[in-house]
Amino acid sequence: MSATPRIDLASVTRLTELADYIVPFTIRVMCDLAVADHLVEGPLPVDVLARRIGADPAALTRGLRALAGRGIFTEVEPEVFGLTPLAEPLRSDHPFSVRECFPLMPPDIYSWARLTHSLRTGETAFGHVHGGTRYYDHFADHPYECVRFERSAESVNPFVLRTVAPALDLAAARTMVDVGSGHGTFAAGLLVRHPELRATLLDLPHVVAEAPQVLAHAGVADRCEIRGASFFDPLPAGADVYLLKTIIHDWPDERAAAILRNVRTAARPDSRLVIIESVSRYGNHDDTGKVMDVKALALFGGRTRTEQEFRALLDDAGFRLLRVTPTSSMSVLEAVPAVPVPENGPTAGSPAVAAAGRSV
Ligand SMILES: C[S@@+](CC[C@H](N)C(=O)[O-])C[C@H]1O[C@@H](n2cnc3c(N)ncnc32)[C@H](O)[C@@H]1O
Repeated sequence: MSATPRIDLASVTRLTELADYIVPFTIRVMCDLAVADHLVEGPLPVDVLARRIGADPAALTRGLRALAGRGIFTEVEPEVFGLTPLAEPLRSDHPFSVRECFPLMPPDIYSWARLTHSLRTGETAFGHVHGGTRYYDHFADHPYECVRFERSAESVNPFVLRTVAPALDLAAARTMVDVGSGHGTFAAGLLVRHPELRATLLDLPHVVAEAPQVLAHAGVADRCEIRGASFFDPLPAGADVYLLKTIIHDWPDERAAAILRNVRTAARPDSRLVIIESVSRYGNHDDTGKVMDVKALALFGGRTRTEQEFRALLDDAGFRLLRVTPTSSMSVLEAVPAVPVPENGPTAGSPAVAAAGRSV
């Protein structure tokens, strides 16, 4: 390697684009203000747009011009702005809308400002900034932020559902527990695809409070039971499938193992565990999982894991990893109980299982 710097102006330009946080913040504000929704009928003069969304016309022009320079929105004539293909997914009515994906949440942003702490110590910046509070505990007293977080997490679900559905064989399943279900959009999507399937959604009480509307909207409420509970407490027993979608990566090994052991205790010997999340690989390829790994470090205290790390975690919890199917979004990991009858756990013919079979 040479000791003198390589002069490559393209790298300087590209780095400047990647490193600034002006563009991401401005995109997020445009989402909050629902700018794209107001441009679906065609370009609008900025003063009309500003009146409709409650913005200052001159300030809005500056924000829109910055983004138009990056291909998001277009200034079709002076001070008249419209949508571009890159701006289309910012519309609320887009089938893969990302409008709610990027909330501006002050507790997160204060934490990102302390990312150095995470890199120096391996601890969460979130806990450092918020007096040791864990990310999900914070939401119990902050319902507005809780709803915004859940909507951001589930806003990618239509896309993830479409990409993972072919890798997910639920044809024979009749009962499923979605462990850490959020508002239930992912489970609802699976229920729509599998009319024979019934589900129990399990998440913290203040989170599942929003689930009934989501299930009713999807037309699957009659095939769902909702449980407000922690996945660190005993789980509904005896389901055909236990689903953990983007759950394990939120937690450090010992907490992730505790969740998996709870699933193992609740599972029948022939239940299946399905984990949907990113699996990390060595190498320089662009990979959302690697980027989300930094978020897990900064905010949650979890991590993106390799297949080997998943295998070890599952082994410890009494599961055998059967297969990992990569998709163009996340991977589908399928596991089965490694030991036929778990210690103190339910068996296929036990009353607990029969009851669960009826209730889910
Ligand atoms: C990244 S979100 C994933 C939500 C959902 N599985 C999805 O993919 O749309 C993680 C979920 O874990 C839930 N969660 C966190 N701690 C929990 C706990 N102790 N018990 C149950 N759910 C919990 C959160 O409320 C949140 O809904």
